[in-house]
Amino acid sequence: MPGSRVASPRRYLVCEPGFFAVRYAINPWMHPDRPVDTALAQRQWRTLVDTYRAHGHTVETVEPVPGLPDMVFAANAAVVVEGKVFGSLFHAPERRPESVPYQTWFKDRGFDVHQPESVCEGEGDLVPAGRWILAGTGFRTTREAHREAQEFFGVPVISLTLVDPYFYHLDTALFVLDGENVAYYPEAFSPGSREVLKRLYPDAVIATRDDAMAFGLNSVSDGRHVFISPGATALADRLADRGYVPVPVDLSEFHKAGGGIKCCTQEIRS
Ligand code: ARG
Repeated sequence: MPGSRVASPRRYLVCEPGFFAVRYAINPWMHPDRPVDTALAQRQWRTLVDTYRAHGHTVETVEPVPGLPDMVFAANAAVVVEGKVFGSLFHAPERRPESVPYQTWFKDRGFDVHQPESVCEGEGDLVPAGRWILAGTGFRTTREAHREAQEFFGVPVISLTLVDPYFYHLDTALFVLDGENVAYYPEAFSPGSREVLKRLYPDAVIATRDDAMAFGLNSVSDGRHVFISPGATALADRLADRGYVPVPVDLSEFHKAGGGIKCCTQEIRS
């Protein structure tokens, strides 16, 4: 029923790609010998921020830190539900120092911040989806962190196992459309996790491998608009058929680091 989807205003936290680069390889997308066009990356990132604002969303920024080239991927620094912040403990030593500036940002604004004891990469793997939190494991975030998050938030956490190294974070294989539904690429998940997703979301929007490889599942939805990689054409068509409005935003330079729109965006849920 096109036209019936309702957008709700969101609060996003982002980090300017001031020091963005591909200096190490911690996922199959990263090739330090392939140059990143930093000027283009800046322009693409600005377009993302401008697009969010043009759609009525609030965007706040954390200052980038020299020597932390992946800090632009704000989603990995925490997950915020009902104003409670569950911080991060990065898997890769190269990224561990990113947690501090993000936690400082939250503490300075009066948020209660929990430092997880096990490896946990924020909204990259912990994806709030209405009444529960979908949680990825297999490459980065651990099952212990899923349990810790459930204890901290008091919200059911549903563990899903990722099996394809190209889709190493849950937010590269699935995104939340609204309180009721998600879009995902089934083959990124173990057989059992695929069954779980089928039971929870019999009406999900299913993406192809091409959509997933184009970072189409690393999208952000406000309930109506879906900010999506322009390469995910089949997925954009399916979303439009379901009444969502795809808004293409090209973050191709960030794909070289294994990230896209959602990776660059953390949602602050009050
Ligand atoms: N280079 C970063 C890493 O491998 C990219 C992170 C992408 N973020 C995300 N939410 N999937 O950790």
